[in-house]
Amino acid sequence: MKKLLILVAVFICSHVSAVDFTKEILPILEKKCFECHSSLKKKPKGKLRIDELTHFLKGGKNGSFVVPGKPEKSLLYKSIILSERDDDVMPPTGKGEPISKAQQALVKKWILEGANFGKWKKSTPRKIVSSTKKKSSFIKLSDQFPKLTVPKSEKGAIAKLEFLIEKARRQQKITKNGAINDANFLRRIYISIAGRIPTLEESKEFLQSRDKNKRDKLVDKLLDSEAFVSNFYNYWADVFRIKLHLSTYEEKDHIKLFAEWIKDNIRENKPYDVFVREMLSSTGNAFKSPGVGYFFRDKQMPLDNMAYTTQVFLGTQLDCAMCHDHPFDQWSQYEFYQLGAFVHDARYYGYFPGWV
Ligand code: HEC
Ligand code: HEC
Repeated sequence: MKKLLILVAVFICSHVSAVDFTKEILPILEKKCFECHSSLKKKPKGKLRIDELTHFLKGGKNGSFVVPGKPEKSLLYKSIILSERDDDVMPPTGKGEPISKAQQALVKKWILEGANFGKWKKSTPRKIVSSTKKKSSFIKLSDQFPKLTVPKSEKGAIAKLEFLIEKARRQQKITKNGAINDANFLRRIYISIAGRIPTLEESKEFLQSRDKNKRDKLVDKLLDSEAFVSNFYNYWADVFRIKLHLSTYEEKDHIKLFAEWIKDNIRENKPYDVFVREMLSSTGNAFKSPGVGYFFRDKQMPLDNMAYTTQVFLGTQLDCAMCHDHPFDQWSQYEFYQLGAFVHDARYYGYFPGWV
């Protein structure tokens, strides 16, 4: 009966622009299903194999994979139109890109038209790596500036900076300002590095000096100063939302240790990536691992902490997905809670020495 139906369907559909299995349906299956439902797996998932017509027609343990003319009775169609929250959706959530609405419609049309396989008998499944990995939508710096390389020396770095500034200046037809005078330089460099203006003594010392390298020396001196630590601590305290006025002593001490740790990092010029990695992967006692203060800050609000972390470090706004799929971004609500579950398997223990 099935074969007859297919034959009839072939006859009918050859007159209109029917969906072509090999060209339109098979590529979807190859990309999104073969990984688990073909000879690539010793034991195909759900005992369902769809890389050969004979297996295909057998279907799986719960019925026919395709019932020509009846999408609502075909496991193929039923399994791909489920919501991503459904445990039975195919491909399973998180295991490869979901089937798009257009692809669903195509499969439906193909089944309605009688599920015509054309001349297809079998395929040789290939492993496709990209099907399981979602393409990142983040713009990489290396894509934007393919020729940007890290200079090996300080001199090289300065030359490169000068070059880039000069180039942008020419492109935008901006005329160059004359060299800044000592007094202006002094004031600006103090504000940018130390976060304050110089004192009278400091000003006199600099302005009266005849040293040719006095500007470089001042920059170095300021970078080594406590004022620099304090100024940049303010910046990071803002970014990490450090709150020193917490309700309990326990929390206060905890955050203080965290704050001191940030200052130490600035003081010793710890590379940013190391600093962040230590902080985000910190566990244990706040005395030994003060970076845990970052999580302690949002104690009992782990999801907010997670959403905040993605905003600061990935530059993406995940928090809207807490209540519904993100309306303008790629994040679904499901992914929000997946990440939340992954990141916040953290526990907080009581007063010291057992803080975690
Ligand atoms: C990452 C692996 C994976 C991918 C990719 C995948 N599946 Fe599945 N599939 C499974 C697993 C695991 C089961 C078994 C679930 C169970 O038995 O509870 C299953 C079961 C099924 C079933 C039910 C079989 C039955 O008889 O109950 C259908 C239909 C199905 N998959 C269709 C598809 C389709 C169509 C695609 C491509 C769009 C696909 N699957 C992609 C893992 C996968
Ligand atoms: C605390 C939960 C929550 C958060 C967080 C949240 N929303 Fe919503 N949002 C809702 C609810 C509930 C509705 C539905 C309101 C209604 O139906 O009247 C909604 C509706 C919307 C709608 C209207 C949808 C429509 O079809 O009319 C948009 C747009 C929207 N939210 C955008 C956002 C954005 C952008 C963010 C992040 C900045 C965000 N939401 C964060 C709960 C939230």
